[in-house]
Amino acid sequence: MKAVHIKDLEGPSTVSVVDAAPPVRKDGDVLIDVHAAGVSFPEVLQSRGRYQVKPDLPFIPGAEVAGVVAEAPADAAVRVGDRVAALPFLGGFAEQVACSADAVFPIPDSLGFEQAAAIPFNYLTAHFALRRRGRLEPGETVLVHGAAGGVGTAVIQVAKAFGAGAVYGVVSTPEKGEMAVAAGADEYVLADGFKDAIKTATGGRGVDLVADVVGGDRFTDSLRCLAADGRMLVIGFTAGSIPEVKVNRLLLNNLDVVGVGWGAYALGRPGYLQGQWEDFLPKLSAGAIVPPLGGSYALAEVRDALEAIDNRKAMGKLVLRVRD
Ligand SMILES: NC(=O)c1ccc[n+]([C@@H]2O[C@H](COP(=O)([O-])OP(=O)(O)OC[C@H]3O[C@@H](n4cnc5c(N)ncnc54)[C@H](OP(=O)(O)O)[C@@H]3O)[C@@H](O)[C@H]2O)c1
Repeated sequence: MKAVHIKDLEGPSTVSVVDAAPPVRKDGDVLIDVHAAGVSFPEVLQSRGRYQVKPDLPFIPGAEVAGVVAEAPADAAVRVGDRVAALPFLGGFAEQVACSADAVFPIPDSLGFEQAAAIPFNYLTAHFALRRRGRLEPGETVLVHGAAGGVGTAVIQVAKAFGAGAVYGVVSTPEKGEMAVAAGADEYVLADGFKDAIKTATGGRGVDLVADVVGGDRFTDSLRCLAADGRMLVIGFTAGSIPEVKVNRLLLNNLDVVGVGWGAYALGRPGYLQGQWEDFLPKLSAGAIVPPLGGSYALAEVRDALEAIDNRKAMGKLVLRVRD
């Protein structure tokens, strides 16, 4: 089968498409004919050995896919021929992948494979961040950093679908701001000077939640954007540096800084991912969540997709068309 290989740790430019042996389905796994795969920031990190998951080389990356069930255990909730999205976490950039049945999800007929492939990784992260870790209540306001990116657009859409009030996107360019608004944000502000812009937009009150995938030197100003009782969700560090926090800022306004480590949490709790999907599926079926795609690439163009993310050019979610 055709598959993408990471064979060294030199970054996106040496990632290649190879002929690889198809996966062997183990007990409890579902074998999926992959039609599309989502591309995310962690795959760029993996191409340099900078992600927390470090498989032996060479390996097939690809955390999330959409496709058709080719083989399934007798007791699985899905059957041969079902259209599904899935979270193999690795191996998804290939014509076939084997995935634990616990991480295979039915998709509505209305959803195309490319959009379905955009959902599991980012939207279940956003769901965990906002609902479980952030304790989002209806009407609460949310600020989203990296708001035109994969996780950012997912946070915007999940926040809105689960009843948030105003959602503000923080972005580096007006073009990205338009993408955040198209995804459902009420307003965007530019990263440069975002604290003052948010204070103005909220009449001085600030927001109830900040979702941060960027980290770096924005952190203290993000805390200053929080209203009393506010929660700061630490999701990622695309800026490259890990912020430090002076905890007196938390005491003064009763703020929480909350870690969001969705993968480890979900994998350690059988059934958790299926519970998330059950909560999520009605929103998908009703069309309340439609992931904005920023680019669709043939499998052979995988480097272009990874480089777009690496060069901060990507907007919305990028997907690979595995079977053109
Ligand atoms: N905690 C979890 O469970 C979890 C789960 C999934 C992903 N993540 C993490 O979430 C982060 C975002 O992933 P993603 O797929 O949404 O990435 P993405 O689509 O590339 O979006 C990231 C955004 O970060 C912003 N950014 C700021 N400084 C940047 C820099 N120096 N280089 C690149 N981007 C920069 C960019 O927005 P502007 O240009 O507008 O600033 C960009 O749109 C990653 O760190 C990933 O590892 C965490």
